[in-house]
Amino acid sequence: MSDEETLKRRAQAVFPRGIYGHLSTRLMPENYPQFFTSAKGVRMTGVDGKVYIDYMCAFGLNLFGYGDEEINGAFVKQMLATDTLTGVSPVMVELAERLTGIVTHADWAIFVKNGTDATTLGAMIARAHTKREKIIVAEGAYHGFAAWSSASPGTTEAERAGRIACTYNDVDSLDRAVARAGDDLAAIFATPFKHDILIDQIEPDAAYARRARELCDKTGALLVVDDVRAGFKLARDCSWATVGVEPDLSAWGKCIANGHPLSALLGNEKARRAASRVSYTGSFWFQSGPMAAALVTLDRIMNTGYLENIQTLGRALRDGMATLADRHGVGLRQTGPVTMPMFLFDDDPDHRKGYRWCSEMVERGVYMHPFHNMFISNALTMDDVGQTLEAADGAFRALVAAGPELAPNTRLAALSA
Ligand SMILES: Cc1ncc(COP(=O)(O)O)c(C=O)c1O
Repeated sequence: MSDEETLKRRAQAVFPRGIYGHLSTRLMPENYPQFFTSAKGVRMTGVDGKVYIDYMCAFGLNLFGYGDEEINGAFVKQMLATDTLTGVSPVMVELAERLTGIVTHADWAIFVKNGTDATTLGAMIARAHTKREKIIVAEGAYHGFAAWSSASPGTTEAERAGRIACTYNDVDSLDRAVARAGDDLAAIFATPFKHDILIDQIEPDAAYARRARELCDKTGALLVVDDVRAGFKLARDCSWATVGVEPDLSAWGKCIANGHPLSALLGNEKARRAASRVSYTGSFWFQSGPMAAALVTLDRIMNTGYLENIQTLGRALRDGMATLADRHGVGLRQTGPVTMPMFLFDDDPDHRKGYRWCSEMVERGVYMHPFHNMFISNALTMDDVGQTLEAADGAFRALVAAGPELAPNTRLAALSA
């Protein structure tokens, strides 16, 4: 038995249903590796020694690649000096000053560990600010796994009773949701663009973003942009700067410390009073190692051409994929910003084509996702894109050769299990 299979079996015994959450491979094509021993730049090495170019960046964390020596060096230096102690490291103040200096709408910051902490705190602060309950979220949007934002077994209807759904980018639907909230609207939540799993990604309509701002101003509710996934991948500011709209609160996480555990909620003066009244804390929220890593990450974001670079790389990948798909006569849909690509196939309701294609890609050493948006790392190079396109050429050929005989895809059934 391979090391990979042995580890999978051992994991099955010591976790409730094996490796859990977004890093579980139970929803991925069967040949996806689960365990890795090392990673550097955009390459991850599996326990069986195979190397993969990774287009997931740990689901958007490693904007500057794995094992970045300068960022990790700052982390280690801070850890050795102090990390979590009975008090606060000056780096925390410096980081809050830096972030509020970068993100236009922000006047204050609260550092937390996960994106879910940040979005949940955003909901609490909006409710404290307005003394109201209702929160509008777009149908299908993910804002974390907290009881208010998920529908998992173990949560109750009562815990999400304050949530009202609308359709992303649909102004009339947003108007109707606000009307439903009546005089009880606390917040409108929005992701920077529609980046739900399994469907084509949808860029934000500026009219929708402006209407959300207008409705919040009219009702006194707070506008919250959930930038946990897309933050700094579209702009060197809150992502809705791209459509000219500033929120009251924005939630951040994932890449702000390039893979080190740190997330943040940022807010404006209007929300400061409520933010100072709400109770929040966490044993590890003051950990200064990740904050030191974040300072270096933010320096890169502000002082290098990383954004233009990942746009150029993402554009080259998109163009190359489109050419190859055309050449092989395959209907491939590429949606969302080029820095966060999503690949779905035409006439593929159960995603069997996407699964087969990804499975062929992973065989060829490229780790892509069949139904979640991916992420372009600044550590990727044009040579890597070339290598990816070479693999894709083979994967398209194999997909076409499999023809209409592809077996139905049963893996996604686990989503509702
Ligand atoms: C848009 C968005 N919000 C919130 C979260 C939750 O973040 P975390 O997994 O760090 O709790 C995620 C995670 O993927 C996300 O994509």
